[in-house]
Amino acid sequence: MVHISEREQDLPEALIAELLDIAAERKDVISLGPGEPDFITPKPILDYASKILNKSTHYSASPGKTELREAIAKKLRKENKIKCDIDNIVVGAGSQEVLFSAFLATLDVSEQVIVPTPGYLGYIPAIELVNAVPVSVPLFEENDFELNPDDLKKIIDKKKTKVILINTPSNPTGTVFSKKVLEEVADIAIENDCYIFADEAYEKIVYDKKHISVGSLEGMEDHVVTFQSFSKTYAMTGFRVGYACGPEAVIRAITKSKHYVSLAPPHVSQFLAMKALTIPNSYINKMVSEYRERRNFLVKRLNKLGLTTPMPQGAFYAFSNVKHLTSSSLEFAKKILKEAKVAVVPGTDFGRDGEGYIRFSYATKLPLIKRAMDRIERFLK
Ligand SMILES: Cc1ncc(COP(=O)(O)O)c(C=O)c1O
Repeated sequence: MVHISEREQDLPEALIAELLDIAAERKDVISLGPGEPDFITPKPILDYASKILNKSTHYSASPGKTELREAIAKKLRKENKIKCDIDNIVVGAGSQEVLFSAFLATLDVSEQVIVPTPGYLGYIPAIELVNAVPVSVPLFEENDFELNPDDLKKIIDKKKTKVILINTPSNPTGTVFSKKVLEEVADIAIENDCYIFADEAYEKIVYDKKHISVGSLEGMEDHVVTFQSFSKTYAMTGFRVGYACGPEAVIRAITKSKHYVSLAPPHVSQFLAMKALTIPNSYINKMVSEYRERRNFLVKRLNKLGLTTPMPQGAFYAFSNVKHLTSSSLEFAKKILKEAKVAVVPGTDFGRDGEGYIRFSYATKLPLIKRAMDRIERFLK
């Protein structure tokens, strides 16, 4: 017998996965698709692994190791200016697991989450899996894909909206929200008595603009849950460590629901995360300066080819307008894969409002980006 729930059957197949599988299998394809750093985890973190393997063969505490949660709280106070303590922190297998558990912990059936789109493809299916309702607020190229608080005001529903999700620096647009916008979103959350879930997975990958945590704004302690991750900052996607910082009662609820998903976060990875928080910033700065060089090259080249691309301020993605070339980003991405042998991600993978755009990742070595762009230039001609 095969019985698959309707909920599961409704889950979208990520187109990105299909394209990236093809790219991974075919040696002749250059991938500008990756959603993760191409760098290897910094050496001091990897070297530490052999020292702590035999100390990590058991479950850790369910919300994460005490020493790690303490170190995270210290980091958040110092670097993000968020007032918090160990009881405000829960660790999980990547920020995705913590975010999913947070939806479970805070949303009843039919309650709404406002999701700016184009946005990270992990949000909408996760909200639907807990039988809540994602409501898109569109982000516009003319506004550098930054959230317009007036658009948010128009769709927020005081009764039904429980969460406003924001992602800065953003995947797939690279936008970094300004303090002014964050302050306005904060006011809207307070007026409507709802949470802000702030996904800050790319907080350290910023170029010309400073990252600001909405959770650091005056009076927001009870309204914001901040999600951060070791995945992008330390090139540690494979180790799966992320965390949330928020009001104590919410963190306790997240811990409870997360317990029934994974019992506890991976123990060995938590030791490595603790080590990561002690290494010099130069390891991160070196990666960011390489991303910056690639970004400058890629965005200049894309614009030269007539694919209008705003300069991303953070993360490692460029988001290009291809509306003059196609009415379907998916078909266009497939064509680029087939004819130019370059894998890219169609904007529609990031929600309906991504139609007409293509995401180019620059988490790929510069010589490969150069070759990929030569191929795309030939293809466009
Ligand atoms: C915006 C954003 N948030 C969250 C995640 C999940 O990251 P992780 O679960 O590795 O912490 C990703 C992964 O690509 C992402 O792009």
